[in-house]
Amino acid sequence: MKDLKDKVAVVTGAGSGIGRALAQNLAGRGCRLAISDVNESGLAETLASLKGADARSYALDVSDRDAIYAHAAQVVEDFGHVNLVINNAGVALSASVREMTDDDFKWIMDIDFWGVAHGTRAFLPHLINSGDGHVVNISSVFGLIGVPKQSAYNAAKFAVRGFTESLRQEMKLENQPVSVSCVHPGGIRTNIANAARMGKSENAEAQRKGFDKIAMTTPDKAAEIIVKGILKNESRILVGPDAWGIDAINRLLGSAYQPLVERFSRRNLYV
Ligand SMILES: NC(=O)c1ccc[n+]([C@@H]2O[C@H](COP(=O)([O-])OP(=O)(O)OC[C@H]3O[C@@H](n4cnc5c(N)ncnc54)[C@H](O)[C@@H]3O)[C@@H](O)[C@H]2O)c1
Repeated sequence: MKDLKDKVAVVTGAGSGIGRALAQNLAGRGCRLAISDVNESGLAETLASLKGADARSYALDVSDRDAIYAHAAQVVEDFGHVNLVINNAGVALSASVREMTDDDFKWIMDIDFWGVAHGTRAFLPHLINSGDGHVVNISSVFGLIGVPKQSAYNAAKFAVRGFTESLRQEMKLENQPVSVSCVHPGGIRTNIANAARMGKSENAEAQRKGFDKIAMTTPDKAAEIIVKGILKNESRILVGPDAWGIDAINRLLGSAYQPLVERFSRRNLYV
């Protein structure tokens, strides 16, 4: 996909943060947009900001498999076809393996992994039919390295990466007209930490403040990097200097990155 003009793009979780910025960026490049979220007021704000674009909004909970398949059919009915799907909707959880509840573990996997997997599979036949399709799945730098108190988020985001990298190879081997990219943002200044669930012994206030301090990249900048990566058909899109740093450490050190993370966490997470 060399040009986004008049392409039909689907963005989940578009009521806030990276999803909203992606919708705005794509609208500015002439895309027709199907945006969705569970947060209908945030979504309405995003839609209102896409002045003049051919855009529609849809209430969608990505953890609901049947709702995603119905959404895919509805978008094709409304727009005729689909070229680009960005499975962006996501949530965060900060809790140790010992402490997190089954309910919280299932909640995050249902949204961050199954939401992406169902979103990909529901739209894939339509992307193939379009003759010029692209799937973009949002993982994280926590899909590259493991971090204490992020085991569930790590599990979901590593799973997104494996699923997406496998799909990219399949599409090539089958000569399908669908490109595939996996996105690994570092800290992006969004609402994600505010909306996160926390284990009962976590200091939620301190964690949220800590996130605001280390999140280096704005959502607008993140969206620009992601869209440029899509246009260059990058398999792995790293977002922000911290993401590049973490990717480099991972490549250089292999599993020996872990003592570094332990040292950082002892000072910042286990105080
Ligand atoms: N902000 C970061 O530092 C960061 C870093 C790495 C990866 N990410 C990933 O980026 C993506 C976007 O997050 P963000 O930072 O913009 O957060 P955000 O909280 O600002 O936006 C997430 C959006 O997803 C929506 N959402 C949550 N649950 C949903 C569901 N079940 N169905 C549909 N929509 C739902 C929320 O209502 C919200 O509008 C997520 O997948 C997140 O894991 C974010």
